[in-house]
Amino acid sequence: PTIYAVTPTYPRPAQKAELTRLSHLFMLLPHLHWIIVEDANSTTSLVRNLLERAGLEKRSTLLNIKTPPEFKLQGKDPNWIKPRGVEQRNLALAWLRNHVDVDRHSIVFFMDDDNSYSTELFAEMAKIQGGRVGVWPVGLVGGLMVERPLLNEDRTQVTGFNAAWRPERPFPIDMAAFAISMDLFIRNPQAMFSYEVQRGYQESEILRHLTTRDQLQPLANGCRDVLVWHTRTEKTKLNAEEALLKKGQRSDGGLEV
Ligand code: UGA
Ligand code: MN
Repeated sequence: PTIYAVTPTYPRPAQKAELTRLSHLFMLLPHLHWIIVEDANSTTSLVRNLLERAGLEKRSTLLNIKTPPEFKLQGKDPNWIKPRGVEQRNLALAWLRNHVDVDRHSIVFFMDDDNSYSTELFAEMAKIQGGRVGVWPVGLVGGLMVERPLLNEDRTQVTGFNAAWRPERPFPIDMAAFAISMDLFIRNPQAMFSYEVQRGYQESEILRHLTTRDQLQPLANGCRDVLVWHTRTEKTKLNAEEALLKKGQRSDGGLEV
């Protein structure tokens, strides 16, 4: 199947580094299609050029939509007070519903630009059956070394989750912990992300429209292999750059960083 990976992304000093790292996954995996949605009023030459240099023009779709200001994080806000990627993922879902051939099996995965993904994860996703949502462990998330689905004895059904953070959520898992058979989005047109949910409930919000716990398809060696990590990049410190800017100078004049 074709796997559509949906990545919201926004301008900040480390953006090109993050997207370069991800682009190498796509170069290794020919059945992946990358939907990048820029949180911006237009697409940027930084992202366009990056896709071109990686040779991904034919296997990518570049969209843009800006997060409304009332939902955007402000300078010193901790990153968890507002949901991220809502607008962008919903635009990608609209694009997918309009463009994907419904007669062909395909998979949708929501891929943050800052996580770390093994190529092996995508081989697991390719096993997702029509009408189902595949699930697997995620490393370094929710205050644990690993959050993972708990399975029955023959490892065919999810019986629970080990989450420590808000375990009462309908699906107490991270965005990186699942991928979805595209036919579910066609059958459930109301499925989308929302600003109206409590923090940490975006995953439950999308999944509640699409599946139930007992319908989840466990992957990654019966949920014993960790193939994705919820890494987060440190905010870039630019104190010396700011000092330069005050003097009317900069270190990156004429360079794209
Ligand atoms: C966690 C999950 O991993 C996210 O998938 C989920 O959207 C988020 O919580 C949430 O609850 O909203 P976290 O690492 O804290 O994620 O979030 P970020 O990596 O900062 O953002 C998720 C994605 O949205 C990234 O691809 C990021 O580039 C993008 N984003 C973030 C924007 O497009 N605009 C923003 O203003 C901020
Ligand atoms: Mn992240």
